[in-house]
Formats: sequence, C-alpha cells, structure tokens
Amino acid sequence: MHSISTIMKEAYKLHTVIPSFNIPHIPIMTPVVNALKEKDAFGLIAVARLEWMKFNSKSLEVIAEEYAECGDEHVTSLHLDHIPVIDEDQLRVDYMDDIARAVGAGYKSVMIDGSRLNLRENITCVKEVVDYAYGFSIPVEAELGAVIGHESGHEMDYEELFRTGKGFTDTAEAKTFSEESGVDWLSVAVGSVHGAITGAAVNQKKVSAILNIDKLTDLDRELGIPLVLHGGSGIGLTYLKQSFGHGIAKLNIGTDIRQVFEKGATVKDGQDNVYKRMLEIVDELQIAGTASKLNG
Ligand code: 13P
Repeated sequence: MHSISTIMKEAYKLHTVIPSFNIPHIPIMTPVVNALKEKDAFGLIAVARLEWMKFNSKSLEVIAEEYAECGDEHVTSLHLDHIPVIDEDQLRVDYMDDIARAVGAGYKSVMIDGSRLNLRENITCVKEVVDYAYGFSIPVEAELGAVIGHESGHEMDYEELFRTGKGFTDTAEAKTFSEESGVDWLSVAVGSVHGAITGAAVNQKKVSAILNIDKLTDLDRELGIPLVLHGGSGIGLTYLKQSFGHGIAKLNIGTDIRQVFEKGATVKDGQDNVYKRMLEIVDELQIAGTASKLNG
C-alpha cells in the first residue's frame, strides 16, 4: 500500500484519474466501495462539510466509522472534501477545528476551500492548514478560482459563464498561490460547475459542462502538481478524457450517484442503483485495474 500522496502523483504522471465520490447519504458508501473492488479501480471516499450540514451524512466522524466498516485500503482512501473558510451561506467557519478532527478520525487527505477569499487571504489560510497537516504527512487540496453552483439561489447562464470565463483560475495567480501556500493538489475552475445543494435543481439533471482545455494546459505547464476537477457529474466525456492528459488527476463526483440513490424506492434499491451507476462510471473513465497499478 502506498500513501495517497504517492498514489496521486503516480496518477498525475500516468495521465489517469482518481475519482473522489461524495457521500451525502451514508448507505451510498458500501455500493461505491463494492463497485471499485469489483473493477479493481482506485477511488476516494469523500465527505464535504455541506453534506453533514445540508444532507444526511451526519458528521465527519460518522463517515469515518462507516468507512472503517466497509472501506478497503487497496481500492479506497478517505478524503475530507470542502471545508470552507466562508461557507455557502456566507458564514465564517472554524475550519481548523474540522481539519484537526478529520486528522484525528483517520482521514488521509483534506481540502481547505478559501475560494471565497481574496488571493492573499486564501494563501494565508491554506498555508496554515498545510503547515499543520505536514506534521501528519497529510496532503492538502485547495481551490483557486470559483467553481460555482453551491451558493443557494444561484442564477446561472452556463453559456455566458463559459464564454466570459468569469471566475476561471488565473494562471499567474495560481503559480503564486501554489508556490507560497505549498498546496499539494489544486482545484481549478476551467468550466465545471458544482451540482445544486438546495432548491428545485437538487433533483434535476445538471447542465452538461464543457472544459477550457487550453487554459488547463497552461495551468498544468506552470504548476506541475496534480490538479482537481470539482463538479464532475455531467461533464462531457470527451472533455473529461482530454483533461486527464493535462493535469487533472482527481475528479469529484457527487450529484450523479446521489440522484440515482435518491430515486430508489427503498435504501436497498438506491444502493443497487448506485452500484450499477458506479460500474458504468468506472468504464466511462477507463480506470478498471488502477488500484493494482497505482497502489501495488
Ligand atoms: P458534483 O455534485 O457536481 O458531481 O460535484 C461534486 C463535487 O465537486 C464535490 O466537491
């Protein structure tokens, strides 16, 4: 077994991707792990703060307990997703407390999301987390730019967003950010959007996002660290596959498996739906066999 840091670097080098599956409902975890085992595919099991605040994952500790029951270190690693400095309701978060609790609960990697701050403040917060996590050999992910969608009541004209590139990660800023913060993996905004977490859109099909591969190529060339794509559900497959050749080594997927789970008439039905969808996702991403390849 390798550390998640080593596994991610290897995925980056080999131009393959590690999907990270969000768990907004606890029973989703078992079929996700089982499908990864079935396909010998490596993936992360992740929970974001908003999933215990707005959905049903209860707490980061409850997710860690469930992971201890069904996780499998050959095919999975436990990741703490989006701990915002300012949350989707514009409230300040005690992010160091969440990060420290996650480290204590056995999470192997963490994300600090300072994307609602200005560049300087974002660097300061990320550096604080990097300095802390370094002592536990835990890699840190951060976000620069605005992968929109989590904000409630958000009105979005996707074509306009993509055309103007509003909120997309700036390459020069990203270089400064990466050098000064020491971040291990960077979430970049190049066209993807997060699935909705409130309102009617929670149950609707997501917009089919596309990616600015030229921008991604520039970011990859300048940064040389594993890049992360959030809002992974519903991105066009041709774009996705190109992105793996240009720095994207981690792909966050939430809405896709949440919606098929919620369609189940019973929990068991929902779990069967997740298992089936997971097998398709593994095939679409062409990652069968990556567990043995990346994790020995
Ligand atoms: P989707 O829900 O759009 O797949 O995004 C998930 C995500 O980015 C979690 O961080």
